[in-house]
Amino acid sequence: MGAAAAKISTRGVDVFYGPKQALFGVDLDIPRNQVTALIGPSGCGKSTFLRAINRMNDTIAGARVEGEILLDGENVYDPVLDVVELRARVGMVFQKPNPFPKSIFENVAYGPRIHGMARSRAELAEIVVRSLRRAGLFEEVKDRLDAPGTSLSGGQQQRLCIARAIATRPEVLLMDEPASALDPIATAVIEELIDELRANYTIVIVTHSMQQAARVSQRTAFFHLGRLIEDGPTAEIFSTPRRRQTEDYITGRSAAQRPGP
Ligand SMILES: Nc1ncnc2c1ncn2[C@@H]1O[C@H](COP(=O)(O)OP(=O)(O)OP(=O)(O)O)[C@@H](O)[C@H]1O
Ligand SMILES: [Mg+2]
Repeated sequence: MGAAAAKISTRGVDVFYGPKQALFGVDLDIPRNQVTALIGPSGCGKSTFLRAINRMNDTIAGARVEGEILLDGENVYDPVLDVVELRARVGMVFQKPNPFPKSIFENVAYGPRIHGMARSRAELAEIVVRSLRRAGLFEEVKDRLDAPGTSLSGGQQQRLCIARAIATRPEVLLMDEPASALDPIATAVIEELIDELRANYTIVIVTHSMQQAARVSQRTAFFHLGRLIEDGPTAEIFSTPRRRQTEDYITGRSAAQRPGP
């Protein structure tokens, strides 16, 4: 795939936390209207890479990003770029659910309100209800929309954050292990949602579940120790990986268990 077709293109992306380098020269093209799965062992830099895309690393003291990240051909680190607008275009669901200290309703209504997406209270309520429904949470919370978002269970908070992220209709949705606290039924709802959103959005999802990556993504990128090892169509990465590190990871084999040369 050429960079021209990509919604997001990263070139030589290095990320540092103080003196420690977490990502090394990542070049990745992320196509529009597809789901790209980021996989790899814990600590390999998946969340770091995701946060680089919408500049959430800017909020971490000591974090520094080098290289280029293009969104529709525009560098997101261009100093003239409006970061608030960037984060409206590139929404994010964090690894740890982080509801605002507000009601369930307000958590979802906040974005659409500040971006002027509703002309009336009724229209705003419609967006909130639709977003909660799509995230598979509405039935559980419809009688307590005024309760604090933080009063929900972990899995419910995760779905609340997904509802909040889709309410503003971002062009790109970054999802960091969005189903890690969900039971199989809620997971299926979110996977269906991801598949449906793909028609209009570009989605990047981090997952530790190979089955989930295989089910929801069209492309997969494998990271190891801060480096992008390989990426390609999901079916190919899982059936015929080009690199041994990828094969070992997806088959659940550690280097020690590997048969000799
Ligand atoms: N805020 C931070 N300050 C310092 N180092 C960090 C910070 N966040 C991440 N790191 C380091 O950067 C590296 C990559 O971390 P990252 O969270 O991106 O990994 P990950 O692939 O998302 O792992 P996991 O699967 O466990 O979520 C790790 O070595 C981690 O310790
Ligand atoms: Mg992570």
